[in-house]
Amino acid sequence: MSEENIREKKRIFSGIQPSGELTLGSYMGAIRNWVALQDEYDCVYCIVDMHAITVRQNPADLRRRTLAQLAQYIACGLDPKKSILFIQSHVHQHAELGWVLGCYTQFGELSRMTQFKDKAAKHADNITSGLFTYPVLMAADILLYQADLVPVGEDQRQHVELCRDIAQRFNGVYSDTFRLPEAFIPKMGARVMSLGDPTSKMSKSDPDGCINLMDKPEEIVRKFKRAVTDSDSENCVRFDSENKPGVSNLITIYAAATGMDRENVEQKFAGQGYGSFKPAVADAIIELFRPIREEAERLNADKEYLESVYRDGAERASCVAEKTLRKVYKKVGFIPR
Ligand code: TYM
Repeated sequence: MSEENIREKKRIFSGIQPSGELTLGSYMGAIRNWVALQDEYDCVYCIVDMHAITVRQNPADLRRRTLAQLAQYIACGLDPKKSILFIQSHVHQHAELGWVLGCYTQFGELSRMTQFKDKAAKHADNITSGLFTYPVLMAADILLYQADLVPVGEDQRQHVELCRDIAQRFNGVYSDTFRLPEAFIPKMGARVMSLGDPTSKMSKSDPDGCINLMDKPEEIVRKFKRAVTDSDSENCVRFDSENKPGVSNLITIYAAATGMDRENVEQKFAGQGYGSFKPAVADAIIELFRPIREEAERLNADKEYLESVYRDGAERASCVAEKTLRKVYKKVGFIPR
């Protein structure tokens, strides 16, 4: 039996693009589950800078955000001693496996990706082939590490399913090569909605509808104060995502931040209107993010430490990635150098 088959812990892979600030959405949907899974699993967490350039980035901002994102990962509780933390472009095997897997992915499959359709509509003047083939690179990210689980928010489910399809197809042609990964999607916070438009996902490209991990308390207060609530005459804190999407989103955020369930939140605020609920949600997020922001600011000033973390991470990640890539190259018929 190969070493991969007898490993003791299951493996996790996930990543976030440094294309903007880390948001309350990426925290609830992804990072905090990454932290929770660290002890039980063998975890590999990435800053996917190669994904970020699928839409135009300012190079200086991309560099700054990549490093800041690493500081924020650690401040959230990701421990470089337990988990591998690295930057995608430091491990060349991602691009190489991405190319091979692209030859086992159908144009039609990629055309059906809802995120491609959304992003192409937003960036109509710059629909690159990178934006189109991005789910193939994401499949390479996951399969290189033979990951069992991929903790992501709801919006990434379709990409993880495509990754499974690609892996299954490859395994079918060449015999077992890749583990088939599964998406790990949290019960609460898998789809945090925009504060400005509670019918669309909270996203870093919509600054006012979005809470960032590094927002100062006064910004958080301001954004929640302006959060769209519902135009029903009821003015009561009741969960009903269809008819009261605004307040339902706030209930979900409050519940996810405090660990309460929705019913308890409704009970706690029974008889109170949106006017007193919004500041309570803001306070819960301020307290949740305060220690993270302070620690991230401290770490961000320690460039030497951050450098040592990403260097070590890349080295450990490359070892795992190289094993998979070598296997793949052999199976498809490339002559070893
Ligand atoms: P990205 O960078 O858009 O988002 C990062 C993670 O945060 C989750 N997320 C949310 N969860 C709940 N509510 C929201 N409003 C919200 N917004 C974002 C996302 O689901 C994601 O888990 N393609 C990926 C990055 C990636 C990746 C990978 C992920 C590249 N390779 C391999 C897992 C495995 C992306 O663009 O995520």
